[in-house]
Amino acid sequence: MIRFNQDEKVFHLQTKNTSYVFCVSDFNSLEHLYYGKKIHDDNIKHISNRQIYGHVAHEHREKRDFNASVQGFEISPFNSGDIRTPSVIYNCDGNLDCNRLRYRSHKIYKGRKQIDGLPYSRPLKDTETLEIILTDDENQVEFTLYYTVFEGADVIARHQTVKNTGKSDVTIQKFASACIDFYGMNYDVVTLEGMYIYERAMVSREKLKRGTFKNESLSGTSSHNKNPFIAICAPNADEDNGEVYGFNLVYSGNFSEEVSVSFLGDTRVLLGMSDVGLYWTLKPTQCLCSPEAIMTYSSEGLGQMSRNFHDHVRSSIIEEEFVYSPRPIVINSWEASYFAVSEEKVLQLASTAKDCGIDTVVLDDGWFRPNDKQGLGDWRTDKQRFPSGISGLADKIHAMGLKFGLWLEPEMVNENSELYKKHPDYVLTTSKNPLISRSQYVLDLTRDEVVNEIANRISQELEGAKIDYIKWDFNRYVCEAGSYKTAQGEVYHRQMLGSYKLLATLKQRLGNVLFETCCGGGGRFDLGMLYYSPQIWTSDNTDPYARVFIQNGTSMAYPVSTISCHFTKGDCTSGRQSTYDFRYNVASFGAYGYELDLSEYSAEDKEIFNGYSKNYREIEELNLKGDLFRLISPENSSFYSYVKVSKKKDKALLTFLELNATGFVESMVLRLKGLDPDKAYKNNQTGQVLYGSTLLNVGVRIGDLFREKRCDGYSVLFTEV
Ligand code: GLA
Repeated sequence: MIRFNQDEKVFHLQTKNTSYVFCVSDFNSLEHLYYGKKIHDDNIKHISNRQIYGHVAHEHREKRDFNASVQGFEISPFNSGDIRTPSVIYNCDGNLDCNRLRYRSHKIYKGRKQIDGLPYSRPLKDTETLEIILTDDENQVEFTLYYTVFEGADVIARHQTVKNTGKSDVTIQKFASACIDFYGMNYDVVTLEGMYIYERAMVSREKLKRGTFKNESLSGTSSHNKNPFIAICAPNADEDNGEVYGFNLVYSGNFSEEVSVSFLGDTRVLLGMSDVGLYWTLKPTQCLCSPEAIMTYSSEGLGQMSRNFHDHVRSSIIEEEFVYSPRPIVINSWEASYFAVSEEKVLQLASTAKDCGIDTVVLDDGWFRPNDKQGLGDWRTDKQRFPSGISGLADKIHAMGLKFGLWLEPEMVNENSELYKKHPDYVLTTSKNPLISRSQYVLDLTRDEVVNEIANRISQELEGAKIDYIKWDFNRYVCEAGSYKTAQGEVYHRQMLGSYKLLATLKQRLGNVLFETCCGGGGRFDLGMLYYSPQIWTSDNTDPYARVFIQNGTSMAYPVSTISCHFTKGDCTSGRQSTYDFRYNVASFGAYGYELDLSEYSAEDKEIFNGYSKNYREIEELNLKGDLFRLISPENSSFYSYVKVSKKKDKALLTFLELNATGFVESMVLRLKGLDPDKAYKNNQTGQVLYGSTLLNVGVRIGDLFREKRCDGYSVLFTEV
C-alpha cells in the first residue's frame, strides 16, 4: 500500500511487515526518513536529522538548520551540497554542474510500467507504484523515481529514469538505481563471494567500517566472483533473529554496490549499474533508464530475508508459465561425452534414459564443432556427426517418448569462424588485436545488426526442429569496452541491453520453451537472467561436497527451484568419491537432473537412479513452492542441513548431509523449523507421529534417520496426519 500524507508531504510505502517512509523536505528535495518494521504513523518528520555541521555549503541563506550532508536522501547527486558518496553524477555540456533536484510532482497508481529493454519485477494483483518527478531546472534535466510495492513478499522495487529536457547534451557518469540512507553504522555487510567453480560458495560477513565497502563486478557479467545480492544486518542477527536489509539488482552486467559510512557514522547503501567507464550522453529529449533494484527487510534474520526474496523471485521475476510447473529431469551430454558427442551417442544416452526416470535429453556443446576452437557464431550443425541434423535428432528423441534440449552460446563468436572472418568488426574490442579467451570473442550486441544476424543464423539453423529446452551459455568475460560503432562509455550497458534483446528474440522464435541460462557454470546467477530462464546452471563444479557450499550460498538470495543441480560422476572437479545417496541428496536440493554416461552404469545402478527420479518427483512441489529453512550451515561445520516446508505447512522434507565423518553424528539432535506447532506430523521413515511443537523444540535424533541404512545423505518426509 502506498500512502501520501498531503499536509506533511510524506510518502509511506507499506508491505505486509515493513514500512518505507520519506518526505518532500522544506527545500523540495526527497528526504529519506525510515525503512524497517511496519509502523502506523505517516508523519515521522521529527526523526529528520537537523544537526548543524559546519563547512558544508548550502543555498538556504535564511534557514540555518539545513544541512544537506546529514539528512537522508532518496537520490543524491554530486554537486548538490551533499558531500557524501553521490548516487548520480551528470554533467551538461561537459561541465560538472550544480545538480539541485527539486520535487515537482508525483502519482500513485495500480500496477507498474515496464522498463524498456530491461528485465524487472512483474506486477501482481495488488502491486502499486509511486512515480516522482524531480527536476534540475538550471540544467534542464528531469529524473523520475519509481517505487513499486510488492506487499506479500515484503519487497520494494526501485529504478529511475533521467531525461534531457534542455537543448545541450547531458552526460551521465554515475546512475545508481537506488539510494537508501540508514541511521548509524552498527551493521555487518553480507555478500556472496566466489570464483569460477566456487560461485557464491563463501557467504562473507564483515563488520561495516568507516569508509566505503564496494561489491562490484567489472566483467560484463554479474560474475562467478561476486553477486549483486548484498545485505546489511544487525551484528546480532543470525539465521532466525535480528534485523536484516537485503538488496539485489535485476541486472546481469557490471554492477556497483556501495555501503558507505559518513563522517557522522551514518550508512548509505547505493545499488546500480557500475559507473566505471560510464559516460552516457543524452541528446535533447533522450532518456536513460536504470536497472531495477529490489530491497526487503526482515526482523527475523537472514532466513526470513531469503524467504522474502524467494517468494518475490517466484511470484514476480520468473515467468508464471514455468515457475510452479514440474521441471524436466534432464540427462545432459556434457559430462557424459564433452565434445565427443554424436547423434549415435545421444541416441544411446536416450535409449536408457527412461529407465532412470529421465524425461529430457540435452545435447550440450559439440553439435556444431569438434572442440572449442572453431565454429561458434556460424551455427552450422556438424552433419558428419549429426547426419539427421538437429531437427531429425529431435524427432528421433521425441519418437522415444522423450523431450529434447539443446545448448547454445549466442553472444559469442570463435576467432576461427566464417562469421568473424566476414565481420571482424562484429566483436567488442578496444584494439586491432582483440583480447581472446577460450578462442572466442564477445559479439558486439550494442549493434542491432549483430543481434539480428545471430538471431537469424540460429533460428534458420533450427527451423522446424522441435526443441523443448534451451541451455543458454556465456563462456568468457567482456574485458574490453570497445565497439566499432558505439561510444565507449555506453558499451557495457548497451551490451547488456543487446543480450536481453537477443534472449527475448530467440525465446520468442523458439516457441518460448524452458530456458536454462549458464555462464561458464554459474557466472550469471542473477535476477536479470531469471527473468528469462526459470533455472540457472549453478556451477561447473559438480563435486557434491563443494556443491553444498555453492548451493547454500546461492540459496541466500535465490529460490531452490532456480538452482540447477545434476547427479554426476561426482568426481569430475576434484577426483573425490562420494556415495550415490549423498550425490542425490545434494542434487535434489534444486532443479534435478543427470550428467553422466549412462552406458557406463549397470542395470542395478539405473534402478537406483530411477528411484531417485521418482523420489524427486514426489518432493518436487516442495522445491517449487515451499519455504526453505536452513538448519546447519556447512561453514565451519561437518554437516549441512535444511528443511523445506510447504506453504500450508502440511509437508516438510528434512535433509541432513554428513560432510565429514565424525564420531558424534548419531547422538546429534536437530530441531526443525517452519512447521506448525499445532499440527501432528508423521515421520514417513519411522512412522512416528509427533506434534510440530515437539519437532520444533525437542527435535529429532540423527541416529534415527539412519536406522535402516548407514549413509552420509538422508532426506526424511514429514506429513500432516
Ligand atoms: C560451460 C558450461 C558447461 C558446458 C560447457 C560447454 O562451461 O558451464 O556446462 O555447457 O560450457 O562448452
